[in-house]
This record gives sequence, C-alpha cells and structure tokens, in this order.
Amino acid sequence: MSTTPQSGTSGSAPSRRITVRDIAARKVPGTGTAEPIVCITAYTTPMARFMDKQVDLMLVGDSLGMVVYGMETTLGVTLEMMINHGKAVMRGANQACVIVDMPFGTYQASPAEAFKACARVMAETGCAGIKLEGGAEMAETVRFLTSRGIPVMGHVGLTPQSVHQLGGYRARGRTNVEADAIVTDAKAIAEAGAFSVVIEGTLESVAAAITQAVDIPTIGIGASPSCDGQIIVAEDILGLFGTFTPKFVKRYADLGEDVTKAVARYAADVRARRFPGPDQVFGAKKR
Ligand code: KIV
Repeated sequence: MSTTPQSGTSGSAPSRRITVRDIAARKVPGTGTAEPIVCITAYTTPMARFMDKQVDLMLVGDSLGMVVYGMETTLGVTLEMMINHGKAVMRGANQACVIVDMPFGTYQASPAEAFKACARVMAETGCAGIKLEGGAEMAETVRFLTSRGIPVMGHVGLTPQSVHQLGGYRARGRTNVEADAIVTDAKAIAEAGAFSVVIEGTLESVAAAITQAVDIPTIGIGASPSCDGQIIVAEDILGLFGTFTPKFVKRYADLGEDVTKAVARYAADVRARRFPGPDQVFGAKKR
C-alpha cells in the first residue's frame, strides 16, 4: 500500500482527501487566506456524499444532538453517538477533511482522559482530527493532544456546551473585557498547537482581532466575514431545521417544505390507490 500523497488541495479538484495540514497551510501569516476555507456540518452518509466535493472540511458537529435528535442543548450527546455519526460521514466523504466534535464531559476533566476519548474517536471513525470547545483553560489539553498525534480544531467565543454558564446563546464579546478574553482564548489555543479555530457568535471586531493575531485559520459561524473561512450547520441553510433560525443563517433552500409537499402527494396517491402504479409492481402486465 502506498502512503505517498497524490496531489493538490481544494479549488483544483483534489484527487486525494484534504488533510488538516492542507487546511492549516491555507493561512499565510500576515496576509490571511487567499480563498476562504469552506466548512459545513455533516451527520450522515448521504449528506456527506452530497456535500463532499463542494467543501474543504466537514464537521461532524455535536449540534447533531439538537438537529437530528431533537435535544434542547448539545449536553446530552455521547461519545458513542459521535463515533457512529463520524463513521457514517467518513463512509460518504472521499475528499473533504472530516473532523469530529468531542461531546461535553469527554475531554474537560484532564488531558489524559481527553486523549483516551479522542484516540477512540480517531481510531474508530478514521477522521482527520477532533474539535473541542474552550479557551485558555483548555490550552494544556490541546498541547497534550497535538503533541501525541491528535490534530485539534479549537472553538472559542460562544461555546454551546457552556450554554448554562454563559446564560444563553447570545453573541459574545460586546464588552472590552469579554472581547479581550476571547482573543486571549484563541491565542492560547493556537499557541498550544491547534490547526485551526472556530469562532462562534462574536462581533466582527473580535473575529478580526483574532484572525490578525493567530497564524492558524479562523473559521467563523456568526462571526462575520473577518475570518479565514466559514462554517454553518447544513440543515440551517437547507431549511431542514425548523426550531429556530439564528440571525447569521442564510437560507439557500427550503427542503423541509419540499419534504412536506412530497409526502403529502405520496399520502394522497396511496389514499386514492394511485400508488403503487403499474411501474412500481413486479411482473405487472404492460397496458
Ligand atoms: O456542533 C457544531 O455543529 C459546531 C459548529 C456549528 C461549529 O460546533
């Protein structure tokens, strides 16, 4: 088996999977990224197949707890859920770099515990790296993981696993003290060896300051265009998650409505005995 890489990164139809090093290399310190890094969440094999060639990175986000399982927060998501969905996405992704989110409670207690949980995710899913939430307080863990072969994507600003501590999902960095703390968090994660960092729910000035301050790509969600890339929950832009639509989401499709309409037509056909028709029946005589 050859372990020799074949060719290029996104933008020029890569013939191999995009790696975390490719993603990190997109940031040129001082000038930023030539072309924004395109990231999106994915939870299932079919969705990964549909999106694989369009994006640079797919994140198996713990947002799946809310989007797929109907939970109120991401706190109830388990390691087993993330591993199962990570495997599913890996089956559907051939080109995009796949990162799996670490669920609440599996990495905060100690670097050693975090390593065990992350190593399981990497070994069982085959993903390229993990994402974890937190700032300066997680830097020691990020260093522990990255120095032992586990690529880490950080996540600062509005960190949904701390929703109770933060008092809700409001944008962060509105005061100078809070803004400075988020910049400090991002710097600590970058210095600890993360290959990129998600900035969620902050003012543009905060995202711009971080993007300027760190040598790794910043990936924004609700954090303005002043980031090296963007990430979004796929179901939000496709109209498949109806519970609420955050201000930073732009709708590109209304698939939820399409599903309702299609199923209504199916139901009407069954009730009127129009389905199944001759085309859907084995051995039916041609009329
Ligand atoms: O869980 C998730 O989907 C995320 C992204 C929105 C960044 O963390």
